[in-house]
Amino acid sequence: MIGNLGSCNSMLITGASRGLGLQMVKDLVKRNERPKKIIATARNPAAANELQEITRSFPGVHVVALDVVSQPSIHSASEEVASIVGTEGLNCLINNAAINISTDLNTVTGDAMMKTFESNAVAPLLVTKAFLPQLQAAAAAQKTTGMGVHRAAVINVSSTLGSIQLNWGDGAQFKSYAYRTSKSALNMVTRCLATDLEAEGILCLALHPGWVRTDMGGPQAPLSPEESISSVLSVISSVTEKDHGGFLDYTGNTLPW
Ligand SMILES: NC(=O)c1ccc[n+]([C@@H]2O[C@H](COP(=O)([O-])OP(=O)(O)OC[C@H]3O[C@@H](n4cnc5c(N)ncnc54)[C@H](OP(=O)(O)O)[C@@H]3O)[C@@H](O)[C@H]2O)c1
Repeated sequence: MIGNLGSCNSMLITGASRGLGLQMVKDLVKRNERPKKIIATARNPAAANELQEITRSFPGVHVVALDVVSQPSIHSASEEVASIVGTEGLNCLINNAAINISTDLNTVTGDAMMKTFESNAVAPLLVTKAFLPQLQAAAAAQKTTGMGVHRAAVINVSSTLGSIQLNWGDGAQFKSYAYRTSKSALNMVTRCLATDLEAEGILCLALHPGWVRTDMGGPQAPLSPEESISSVLSVISSVTEKDHGGFLDYTGNTLPW
């Protein structure tokens, strides 16, 4: 897939303090064609040292405090982002922040289920709702009927572990009731948003970044953050109305729900 992130004026990434969110920022700032405004959010920006270092070296990176499970934090982040993007609006929202509490049948608890559901499925929905005026402004500003990050897009970082169809046979070896269920729910949130936002030209999709060596993915994962994110950004840069409402992996292949 070949796309151009230079046509995307502004991109917001949640959970950019470490892992894949941080790698997105690191990758973007090195590109010649990149969003003019990169809004990297973290629940505790003061502790996000690598992110702070990037903002000192690269103009156009804005660090905004955002705890995705806190409604006051979502509210103040949306006000701050509105003033950063102005009337041009927000072209791309990447709901990346998530948690993974390891929970097999023996260890799963109601609390683990609820916490994971809140972070991984409810929060991306409420964050999207809060940034909707900015996404709508960006979509309306483009006098085109096409969809993509040149206009307005919501990318929900999901996982093959959320695929109900793939949770069978070899695909069922990783046991996590809370994480798997939360990502299945995120996939449904994505489809609901895609239905509701289609008429406004806001593209919505779920995207699996691969199994990656981060704190969440662990050291045995086959992909480095660099490999995953270079591919993820290439997919994001190229998505069109054909991909709206879809579930893709980091190579652009469609995944089964
Ligand atoms: N790594 C993989 O193999 C893999 C595979 C499939 C899908 N994914 C998905 O990819 C995304 C990124 O995963 P990752 O591997 O980078 O995970 P990670 O290394 O554990 O990083 C998670 C990020 O989410 C942030 N976060 C968690 N809860 C938050 C909250 N309430 N508010 C704001 N930020 C919060 C963390 O911030 P703090 O630093 O403040 O904790 C951190 O920046 C997730 O959606 C994950 O489900 C990952």
